[in-house]
Amino acid sequence: MNKRITLKIAGIERETNDIKTYSFKHSLNAQPAQFIMLTDFEGGEKPFSISDCTEDVFSITVKRIGEFTTRLFQKRVGDYVSIRGAFGSSFFVSQGKVLLIGGGYAVPTFYFLSKVLKENGAEVTLINGARTKDEHLFSEKLSKLGIKVINTTDDGTFGEKGTSVDITKRMLNHHSQAGAWERENGKMFDFVYVSGPEMMMKALQPLLKDHDYEFLFERYMKCAIGICGNCTMDPLGIRLCVEGPVLPKKLVEQLTEFGQYHRDATGKRIKY
Ligand SMILES: Cc1cc2nc3c(=O)[nH]c(=O)nc-3n(C[C@H](O)[C@H](O)[C@H](O)COP(=O)(O)OP(=O)(O)OC[C@H]3O[C@@H](n4cnc5c(N)ncnc54)[C@H](O)[C@@H]3O)c2cc1C
Ligand code: FES
Repeated sequence: MNKRITLKIAGIERETNDIKTYSFKHSLNAQPAQFIMLTDFEGGEKPFSISDCTEDVFSITVKRIGEFTTRLFQKRVGDYVSIRGAFGSSFFVSQGKVLLIGGGYAVPTFYFLSKVLKENGAEVTLINGARTKDEHLFSEKLSKLGIKVINTTDDGTFGEKGTSVDITKRMLNHHSQAGAWERENGKMFDFVYVSGPEMMMKALQPLLKDHDYEFLFERYMKCAIGICGNCTMDPLGIRLCVEGPVLPKKLVEQLTEFGQYHRDATGKRIKY
């Protein structure tokens, strides 16, 4: 929905030093992986994934990085912002045994997805990775959903030590010090979902060659309605704001620019 609406911030929850969740009373009717474009009319409009959505409330979880998100961090409950959306494709809702692999602020999207998967009867395992304990997100909220959560940090300060890629490799290759559940599950996942930094997804791709999967891509977005072309990916010209941000395995395998380069605000290619 490209109609702009102005909303009051109904709730703010601090998740970490640099991450906050903002909730809004509004019937957005969004699906997991979809995103909104948000502005405060003070400069710029930015994409944010929906981290939860019920009949009349939705939320986004924002990491403070630059000018826009720093300004958003200063907002209070009752302040107004304006949104368009929800935009983009959503995750396929699988049944059976599913694995979710996420890193950083991509994990809140998996909170929303996990709820929907559970309602659909799926058995959900989530690898929830972060660099360090202080950046680890949603572990309590996720465990309340009754799913299996493997917490990991690169430096070992919380959960298993290693990146999400390390843990996935161990799990799928049966090399883990384990966990009976790991030996039980092995590579028996009916579907795998990945959301996180592009180079993490690139490293995961060969490990998942025997699995069916979807990846959630984040590229620089401006219009969000397929017009400006800033979010296209070579060689298919897929517009990530319309055909994505979720892409299925058969399309991911054809993307020559995946993990090679991305584009800045002017469309210029930047090498990874
Ligand atoms: C589909 C999608 C979903 C996203 N979901 C979330 C989310 O749930 N939580 C969250 O914290 N962030 C999310 N982002 C990234 C978020 O849009 C940027 O962090 C934000 O725009 C940074 O703005 P800034 O002015 O604070 O930082 P800047 O200093 O302007 O930028 C810092 C970095 O943020 C990224 N960025 C900046 N502008 C954009 C843009 N218009 N589109 C995409 N990336 C941009 C670039 O990588 C840039 O290097 C998402 C991006 C996309 C494309
Ligand atoms: S952001 Fe303009 S085409 Fe995708």
